[in-house]
Amino acid sequence: MQRPVLVTGSSSGIGLATVALLAERGVSVFATVRSAADAERLAALQGVEPVLCDVRSDDDVARLRVAIDERGAGLWGLVNNAGVGQVGHLTGESQQDMRDVFDINVFGAHRVTNAVVDLLLESGGRIVNMSSISGTLSSAQMGIYSMSKHALEAYTDSLWAQLREPGVHVCAVVPGNFQSLIATNFVQRVPKRDGASEWLRNAYEPGADLSRSQFPPADAVAEACHHALFDPNPHRRYLVTPDADEALTTLRQAAMELLQLNRAASHPRSHEELHALLDEMTTLMHEQEEPGDTGAVVGPTVDAPGASK
Ligand SMILES: NC(=O)c1ccc[n+]([C@@H]2O[C@H](COP(=O)([O-])OP(=O)(O)OC[C@H]3O[C@@H](n4cnc5c(N)ncnc54)[C@H](OP(=O)(O)O)[C@@H]3O)[C@@H](O)[C@H]2O)c1
Repeated sequence: MQRPVLVTGSSSGIGLATVALLAERGVSVFATVRSAADAERLAALQGVEPVLCDVRSDDDVARLRVAIDERGAGLWGLVNNAGVGQVGHLTGESQQDMRDVFDINVFGAHRVTNAVVDLLLESGGRIVNMSSISGTLSSAQMGIYSMSKHALEAYTDSLWAQLREPGVHVCAVVPGNFQSLIATNFVQRVPKRDGASEWLRNAYEPGADLSRSQFPPADAVAEACHHALFDPNPHRRYLVTPDADEALTTLRQAAMELLQLNRAASHPRSHEELHALLDEMTTLMHEQEEPGDTGAVVGPTVDAPGASK
């Protein structure tokens, strides 16, 4: 019997693409959605069990756990994908705006993780957090969203450090821009507000194009999730972008932060020492991601419900 994977926010975009890919490859999936219509749509996919769950609700998350327990097959993986976008200048946004986004993008991931972590510890399984290039990049237009994804990055690293030893691998998938309903859902969720940007002003106009059709479908992100869930040597971060420019912009920002930290440091490193540091970190990263016999995860299949790997 195969231990299933749980994917939150499966009604559209990256979550739907991930569930579809997993189902196509014979993985059994619990897919959370928030409407009966979405549940019905997902139930048509082989091996997919839709579960109604708003990740802001403790009661919903408790019911999700009951559904997993009722199956009796434990859990191999969790993809914390449910999330919302937010556009607007920070000075024009309230603490409630921040709470609303954090309640889904950060606390939602924490709520679901805590509800199932014992099952993942039992299986020695995987946690995949759906971050974003906004977990590295910050912009004037997307402060709250960037804050939430930076928080999810720190959450991922802290959880990785905590769960590494008992054998659960935690990673972040870091997408750039892909097709999804994130813009449509933002405009539906957040009442019309005056524009901090042209995009925001236009977004509420009748007939506004919120389709994100200029970006590719989220298949590459789903593929990264599959690798993170099932490869014997999963990575810590998967930067998945539609083009080289988005990847480079993200890496440039990460490099800039390194240089900013060093520039006014009380004990700065020379240019040469920074190069040597990168070499040292490359070695360390390979050791962490390819731990060999000591830490390699065996796989998601079990002989009987509840049995350990
Ligand atoms: N698309 C991109 O370019 C991109 C880039 C970087 C990161 N991401 C991240 O990818 C994830 C998925 O976003 P997406 O772009 O695929 O957007 P999407 O099409 O809007 O999908 C978001 C999913 O999250 C669900 N969701 C929203 N609020 C929820 C809540 N309170 N409880 C449970 N589920 C909730 C939505 O369900 P409903 O349909 O019920 O609202 C939907 O299934 C997000 O974490 C997002 O930040 C996306």
